[in-house]
Amino acid sequence: MVRPNEFVKDLVPYIPGKPVEELERELGIRDAVKLASNENPLGPSPLAVRALLEVVGNINRYPDGDAFYLRHKLAMKLGVKPENLIFGNGSNEVIEIAARTFLKPGDEAVMGEFAFIVFPLVTKAVGAHAILSPMPNLVHDLKDMLGRITPKTRMVFLANPNNPTGTMVRREELEWFLERIPEEIVVLIDEAYFDYVDDPEYPNSLDYHSLGKPIITVRTFSKIYGLAGLRLGFGISSEEIISYMNRVREPFNVNSLAQVAAFAALDDTEHIRRSKEENKRGLRYLEEELRKLKIRFIPSFTNFILVDLGSDPIPVYNALLREGVIVRPVVNYGLKTHIRVTVGLREENERFICALRKVLRR
Ligand SMILES: Cc1ncc(COP(=O)(O)O)c(C=O)c1O
Repeated sequence: MVRPNEFVKDLVPYIPGKPVEELERELGIRDAVKLASNENPLGPSPLAVRALLEVVGNINRYPDGDAFYLRHKLAMKLGVKPENLIFGNGSNEVIEIAARTFLKPGDEAVMGEFAFIVFPLVTKAVGAHAILSPMPNLVHDLKDMLGRITPKTRMVFLANPNNPTGTMVRREELEWFLERIPEEIVVLIDEAYFDYVDDPEYPNSLDYHSLGKPIITVRTFSKIYGLAGLRLGFGISSEEIISYMNRVREPFNVNSLAQVAAFAALDDTEHIRRSKEENKRGLRYLEEELRKLKIRFIPSFTNFILVDLGSDPIPVYNALLREGVIVRPVVNYGLKTHIRVTVGLREENERFICALRKVLRR
């Protein structure tokens, strides 16, 4: 009999959004709509697609393990040194590398109770303890998080804005927290939805790297750049932290197509502008319609919205599937009455609202 690590036995596998093809196969339909994984409904950057077609014949070669060209271009754009960057197979891998670099069995990492689910997953996978801070009103409470730090704490995880709540921590709160956090604790700030936020109170965590505290900012090409399928995320931190994380990183973790696509997508300001516009319009529409239906939702700073149905969401989720609309129940987060809905194109958002009306008979 095999004997996995005790802490691995207790892990709950990550449940992804249901793929469109799977639902279409099951229902024998062709026009299912997926609003379940916070992807960019406009598709990938056209500049990225064009660049990919030019290099696809080279995939017999291993990728550049150092991502030289992408590293230099991104460093320039962000105003950091190339040595301040680490790339991952999605930002999920960067988060995992950070956990493997800084956590060991018995250590503690502090995070919100409804924080991005990959945080407790990577923490527990290395045998460390996820210390959960309550999130009243589904917002991170940084005062409470600070109070949960003990001599065993090695890391703090914060997604800003957070998935699945869509909520954000404001500049003043983050500054208060970073001033007080002990110097030896690594603070990972996940900004996967950075490009969608317009609020003047939203803090760019890069502004605080100069404080000298060990901060890792994590971002991704999966959301506004529309490259989720290629898997590319990155971390920004001090040269020292990045050099430790690079010792843990697999040599060819980022594939060559992802590097080329991301390099091209960085120039696609028009695609980013359109994606942001479309998202803003879609979010406004969904909020208005939900208000009309008298359904509670959490105001969102992202490309998705958390909807509180007030009762078991699974029957509604299943009924929406039968209407060809895939959303995401978040019961695995302990949110027992909510569904998470990604902002889609106008017609996709209308399909969702129409299906929801039918299912709820409103
Ligand atoms: C907060 C947050 N961080 C990271 C990710 C993962 O992104 P990636 O595709 O870069 O692994 C997601 C994806 O949904 C997310 O919501």
